[in-house]
Amino acid sequence: MARKKIALIGGGQIGQILALLAAQKQLGNVVMLDMPERENPTKGKMLDIAEAAWIGGYDAKMTGTSNYDDIAGADVVIVTAGLPRKPGMTRDDLLDINVKIIAEVAAQVKTKAPRAFCIIVTNPLDSMVYAFHKVTGFPAKQVCGQAGVLDTSRFCSFVAMELGVSVEDVSATVLGGHGPTMVPLPRLCTVGGVPLTELMKKEKIDAIAHRTREAGTEIVNLLGTGSAFFSPAYASIAMAEAYLFDKKRVLAAAAMLDGQYGIKGYFIGVPVIIGGKGIEKVIKLKLTADEQAALMKSLEAVKGAVADVDKRI
Ligand code: APR
Repeated sequence: MARKKIALIGGGQIGQILALLAAQKQLGNVVMLDMPERENPTKGKMLDIAEAAWIGGYDAKMTGTSNYDDIAGADVVIVTAGLPRKPGMTRDDLLDINVKIIAEVAAQVKTKAPRAFCIIVTNPLDSMVYAFHKVTGFPAKQVCGQAGVLDTSRFCSFVAMELGVSVEDVSATVLGGHGPTMVPLPRLCTVGGVPLTELMKKEKIDAIAHRTREAGTEIVNLLGTGSAFFSPAYASIAMAEAYLFDKKRVLAAAAMLDGQYGIKGYFIGVPVIIGGKGIEKVIKLKLTADEQAALMKSLEAVKGAVADVDKRI
């Protein structure tokens, strides 16, 4: 059986971790593409990973390039091309620059890898997925945004840290746009099957929900330059694996809604099933009135960014 092909568009902080994880997990051959002026560093990173294969125990062809012909026929495309945040910037401050990059990337992916499952990571996330989908015209189930897996992982990590338990036993989901309006759902969080609400006081849970919403900014401020990269890379790889191995995983992702939750025509974070057909299903949760209102508030933020995208492409 021929190896699968994973194309990484953007070979910066997240891209390089994606390449290493894809190799270690033997997802397939990996092509990392960056701008022509970054071609040598991109080749260098991929050669470095290839040279660690004997120690790491993986077989994969690692290619660094700036030529879109090299991504031809990719099974999965993960897009991180674009600028990350600096301290003081919101994700939306990136829109002007990143929408042009995403439009250019999408036009290339459309012709070179028309059957790929596409995972967008570039911020501002929800509107960049929208832009990518608009330019490619791909079926909605073939395009999604990575945010919910990371936001869920952050929430679960904070719960595990607070309770002093294994994060493996924490289960949760997060809805909404990838930004300060995201909607963690503590009501549905369980720890080894026990509702979180029975294990933690409301004030503590609220503090964890708040920290989750601001987690990206916390990292940006600590790093001083750039934004989170290990956790977004891990989250994107989990989505790629769900697709490649037809795992039917239930994960939160930015998916195009067609009336679910009263939302139509926008990508926003919801629980979905990811399997070999891509986004196979959007799971519709019964929300409380407060949760639905919070989701609608988050949608307003996404709509604002999408309107800006529509003015530009
Ligand atoms: N085509 C290909 N690559 C590009 C293009 C382009 N048109 N424009 C920029 N890039 C590349 C840059 O050269 C850089 O190597 O995208 C890479 C981005 O890497 P970093 O600057 O290190 O950013 P990173 O931390 O990886 O984050 C990427 O993901 O989470 C989001 O907010 C984050 O939008 C940011 C993106």
